[in-house]
Amino acid sequence: MEKLRFGLIGTGMMGCEHLRNLMPMDDVAITAVSDPNDPPLSWAKSTLGDRWDGVSVFKDHRDLLASGAVDAVIIASPNHTHKSVLADVLSTDIPVLVEKPMCTTIEDCEDVVQQSKKRDAVTWVGLEYRYMPSIAHLLTQLSSGVIGDLKMISIREHRFPFLEKVDNWNRFTANTGGTLVEKCCHFFDLMNLVTGALPTRVYASGGQDVNHLDEVYDGRQSDILDNAFVTVDYANGVRAMLDLSMFAEGGRNEQEIVVVGDTGKIEAAVPGDGYLYVGKRADRSVSADPVPQTEVEHVGFHHGASFVELRRFISAVKGEGEVEVTTTDGLWSVVIGAAAHLSIDEGRAVDISEFKLS
Ligand SMILES: NC(=O)c1ccc[n+]([C@@H]2O[C@H](COP(=O)([O-])OP(=O)(O)OC[C@H]3O[C@@H](n4cnc5c(N)ncnc54)[C@H](O)[C@@H]3O)[C@@H](O)[C@H]2O)c1
Repeated sequence: MEKLRFGLIGTGMMGCEHLRNLMPMDDVAITAVSDPNDPPLSWAKSTLGDRWDGVSVFKDHRDLLASGAVDAVIIASPNHTHKSVLADVLSTDIPVLVEKPMCTTIEDCEDVVQQSKKRDAVTWVGLEYRYMPSIAHLLTQLSSGVIGDLKMISIREHRFPFLEKVDNWNRFTANTGGTLVEKCCHFFDLMNLVTGALPTRVYASGGQDVNHLDEVYDGRQSDILDNAFVTVDYANGVRAMLDLSMFAEGGRNEQEIVVVGDTGKIEAAVPGDGYLYVGKRADRSVSADPVPQTEVEHVGFHHGASFVELRRFISAVKGEGEVEVTTTDGLWSVVIGAAAHLSIDEGRAVDISEFKLS
């Protein structure tokens, strides 16, 4: 079998997680990596073990792209580098999976959408929460009509603070796009997917109240938002809200998602207890619906979602499946996060029409 030759751009935490997901796949060969820093390259080396022999190693992703050693690439470099790395990749015919957020600003995301339309090769955005087993099952149940017409979505993420990253890039909004872009693009993507409509208005309240307050890098204090409530109105009348706390480790679940329709509701959780809970208004019943477990060869940090994401990406690259997470999805997930930050900064509701999206 001809193996698909993968190159990895950025061999930090998430890059090495992609390597661990790719390693068990028989139809994949990891042939090249690039990272400007030596310690992350050594992490890739120890992750790959004896499969490191023969891997081409680059300090600059442009050399990797020009090497002829890869059939597809993954971008797992810091958020603020995605725009320029993507510009280089999108000027080739090499299929790409870019980690979320696609870019840190709406403007940059719009440019990427336009650039990706100029070529036929796959461009896929790494918004993989939709592949987590309980969320995938929620999406299936929702489309079966079990709760009638969808009216409300609420997503709670209560978790631990941001981890340390190479060069502390994630301590500054200028690098991440802001927490509601960096982290919460996952949840806004889910809201967009579940509603099947476009957001029209965003209102938010949030701030940096607990985390990183005493962290100073090169004379600059970390400015990372650590909690927020965000409300999103959709064009089809559905309302959504996000409740984010990044100083809330110790709860039963990291994420809880509830969708409410006019005849019932579905509750899902990550990691959860292996069930969705489906409630019916008519008889006030609640039933426990077992979450089917997808067969994956690496469960990893994201409950198997990254493995499923990579398999779907590979299918699309081989022409056997569709691109399921497009640059347009990447754009709209960032639009809501950016609107929420603007709403917090200016203390007002933000109309999405203000962004004059093309
Ligand atoms: N899908 C998810 O749930 C998820 C989880 C974690 C991180 N991420 C995303 O993955 C990306 C990487 O995050 P991380 O946690 O691995 O950070 P990290 O700091 O651990 O790794 C980033 C790596 O990129 C390297 N790098 C910097 N500039 C580069 C460039 N121009 N070309 C190549 N490499 C470069 C750094 O040296 C570092 O090794 C970010 O976009 C992040 O948002 C996604």
